[in-house]
Amino acid sequence: MLLAGALVLTLAALARHGLDRALDIRLALALHGGLTLLLVWWWGLPWWWRIIGLLFAPAVGVGVGAALPGWGWGVGFVVLAGLSWGAVVSRVPLFLSSRSVWVQVEALVPGGPVRVIDLGSGLGGFVIHLAAERPEAAVEGIELAPLAWICGWLRARVTRSSARLRFGDYRRLDFSAYDLAFAFLSPAAMPDLWAQASAGMRAGSLLVSCEFEIPGVPPARRIELPGQRPVLVWTMPGPR
Ligand SMILES: C[S@@+](CC[C@H](N)C(=O)[O-])C[C@H]1O[C@@H](n2cnc3c(N)ncnc32)[C@H](O)[C@@H]1O
Repeated sequence: MLLAGALVLTLAALARHGLDRALDIRLALALHGGLTLLLVWWWGLPWWWRIIGLLFAPAVGVGVGAALPGWGWGVGFVVLAGLSWGAVVSRVPLFLSSRSVWVQVEALVPGGPVRVIDLGSGLGGFVIHLAAERPEAAVEGIELAPLAWICGWLRARVTRSSARLRFGDYRRLDFSAYDLAFAFLSPAAMPDLWAQASAGMRAGSLLVSCEFEIPGVPPARRIELPGQRPVLVWTMPGPR
C-alpha cells in the first residue's frame, strides 16, 4: 500500500509539473486501489489481501468524505482495537481457521477425558466445534482481544456449548494441564510458544499449529490439506 501510495504521489507530481494539472483525488484513490491490487496479485498474497488492497484507499476517501460525527470514528476505533488487540500486544492478528482444519485437529485429540486448549481462540469457532464433537473432552479457549473474546463467549452461551472461553493471555498460562494445545498464531509468536510449550507440556502431549512452523524444530507430523493451510504436530518430550 505504501509502494502504491508512493507511485500515485509520483504520478501526481508528474501531472502537476509536466501537464500543469492536479490529479483528481477520486482518480488518485482509484489508481491506488488498482495498483495495490496488481502488487498483491504479483506477490502472490492470499486472495483476501486483494480485496483489502483494492478497497483500502477508496474506503478512506469515502470515510473522510462522509463527514462522520466524531463518535463514529471513536466507535470504529474501539471495534477495531477490540478485535485486533492480539496484533498490538503479541503480533498475532485475528483471522480464522477453516472447518477442514478443525476436523484434522479433532482427529488428533486422544480419546477419553482429555483437556484441550485453543491458544488465541478468536471468535470461538474451533472450541465450540470440538466441544460438540468430543463431549468427553474438556475444551477451553483463551483469547486476549476483548471483543473477539466476548463474541466467542456469547456464541458458546447461545449454542449451549460446554467449551470454556476465558479472557486472558496464553503467555501466562500453565500448559502442563493440557493433552493437546492448538495454536493458529503467526510466525512472530512461534519461537516463544515453543519455549513455553517445551518448558510446560507433559511428555506425550501434543502441540498443534495451523500453518506456522517453529524455526529449527521440525514437526513430528505434517498434514497437508489441498487448498488449505497445513496442520503441524509436535509430540512433546516432557518438561526440560
Ligand atoms: C489467527 S487467530 C486464530 C483464531 C482461532 N484460534 C482460529 O483458529 O480460528 C489468533 C488469535 O489469537 C489471539 N491472540 C494473540 N495473542 C494472544 C495472546 N498472547 N493470548 C491470547 N490470545 C492471543 C488473537 O487476538 C487472535 O484472536
